[in-house]
Amino acid sequence: MNLSGRSFLKLMDFTPTEIEGLIDLAAELKDKKHRGIAHDELRGKNVALIFEKTSTRTRCSFEVAAHDLGMGVTYLDPSGSQIGHKESIADTARVLGRMYDGIEYRGYGQEIVDTLAKYSGVPVWNGLTNEFHPTQILADFLTIRERFGKLKGIKLVYMGDARYNMGNSLMVGCAKMGLHFVACAPRKYFPDPELMEQCQAIAAENGATVEFIEDPAEAVKGAQVIYTDVWVSMGEPDEVWAERIRDLIGYQVNSKLMAQAAPDCVFMHCLPAFHDLNTAVGRKMSKMFGVDEMEVTNEVFESPASIVFDEAENRMHTIKAVMLATLRK
Ligand code: CP
Ligand code: NVA
Repeated sequence: MNLSGRSFLKLMDFTPTEIEGLIDLAAELKDKKHRGIAHDELRGKNVALIFEKTSTRTRCSFEVAAHDLGMGVTYLDPSGSQIGHKESIADTARVLGRMYDGIEYRGYGQEIVDTLAKYSGVPVWNGLTNEFHPTQILADFLTIRERFGKLKGIKLVYMGDARYNMGNSLMVGCAKMGLHFVACAPRKYFPDPELMEQCQAIAAENGATVEFIEDPAEAVKGAQVIYTDVWVSMGEPDEVWAERIRDLIGYQVNSKLMAQAAPDCVFMHCLPAFHDLNTAVGRKMSKMFGVDEMEVTNEVFESPASIVFDEAENRMHTIKAVMLATLRK
């Protein structure tokens, strides 16, 4: 696998072999990290991390991974640079491309990360856009492979708003890597029809299936992974909460739903999650709408079936693989 000089903007741009290669590399780097073997192969390089939206996992993963690889890091926070306010993305790209060997971007439209890649002349990595969250899927797939020993043939059901970055990216990833993907939500939360069709065609080539089912009990039959995400994503207005809770409460991942899946079914979530009242947003929603747990109950989140913290750790190893594969000669 040679990904030298490539950007990592969305999974659609990569072949199944390349995606598998990145997961293999991440597993190798994880093993090295756990055994204390140095792997600072990119000493002397520097990366810029642009975050127009907030982050815990993605930012920390890029920072730790860059340090482990021997690189310097500059973090540009949602308000601390000229980006978007006083300077266009194309101009920013050309400036940062003169100083840095690679650029991470988290923010809004996919066209922004595409523009950065077009103008910077260095690899650009998508740390989440409205449309896609590709580094998250690499971590999810490494985690699934660790648990089940394979990806091909695994049935993954995504519960909730499937039109956004997580639903879209999981659908593309599953279609490419031979998993059986089901989006379970009311019809209006199904992904973009064009992307759905494209994924169904890709799935057919890779022994995968892509389905859309409104009934949760039917959707999770035989599921080995039940996956969910927040009902309101970063950048969406607070006003949508009422409608989302009303529409998606029936799609909450709870013990009853888990019991309808395969006996070895695991629970996954990209995090952060609203599973109790220990967050400001969780408490606010509880006061306004009387729901104390949202997309997942605390019982499921804290159960042995929940592998969310393995998944979170794997963000770092997979992001490291993406930087190493695209920056090494
Ligand atoms: N899953 C994920 O991207 O988490 P952060 O928002 O904390 O980066
Ligand atoms: N859909 C969520 C994912 C967070 C990692 C968001 O965009 O806020």
